[in-house]
Amino acid sequence: MEFYVDIADLESIKKVAEYYPIDGFTTNPKILTKEAGKVEELIPQYRKFAEENDVKVFFQVTAEKAEDMLDQAKKLKAYYGEYLVVKLPAVKEGYKAVRLCKAEGICVCVTVVHSMTQALLAAKAGADFVAPYISHIDNIGADGVTAVEEMVMAFENGGYPCKVLGASFRTADQIRRLATVGCQAVTITPEMFDLLIAHASTDASMEGFRKAWKETFGEKQVSDFIPE
Ligand code: G3P
Repeated sequence: MEFYVDIADLESIKKVAEYYPIDGFTTNPKILTKEAGKVEELIPQYRKFAEENDVKVFFQVTAEKAEDMLDQAKKLKAYYGEYLVVKLPAVKEGYKAVRLCKAEGICVCVTVVHSMTQALLAAKAGADFVAPYISHIDNIGADGVTAVEEMVMAFENGGYPCKVLGASFRTADQIRRLATVGCQAVTITPEMFDLLIAHASTDASMEGFRKAWKETFGEKQVSDFIPE
């Protein structure tokens, strides 16, 4: 499963990358507004980070018309090259833009997906990723994980090489369930990365190890037993 961090703050991205094996980071227009005032200086830093770590960067177009989306995608592609995935919204103009972008060799993610049928047409149009918003789907009385399961099956049945990139999570359990239905990728917050590995029993066991060690060996470390 691919893991992305859903944030534009570079220090947070670097912190997550230091601890966890990430495949890149994802942004959207709202996420980028949090970096208002420094986006211009961040743009080259994002590229450096992508090159040095060999990871993907996701940027969403802000245009409304397909041709304008293509222009933005081409500009982003010229700058970020192979590291770029362009996010196109699952609206009519976005669907048109998928094939325009694919014709230019641009990697595409159709985003803000809330239904299986939206995902299906995106895959058929040639999208490399679709990004369903799991919690939003849950909030409208459907089941985000089931929707992803159906997307994965439909892509397999249709022979579409499109990955499902789950987005918008509220619980670690949603991610656990997605992993069992063949979801290929998720994008999550830095806090969610920490939640994925948090376990009270692990903490309790660690405390037990620490206590026993200290009582027996004091300040000595395990590596101190190795001869010089
Ligand atoms: O990647 C999607 C995400 O940024 C939107 O999440 O749940 O804050 O709407 P949410």
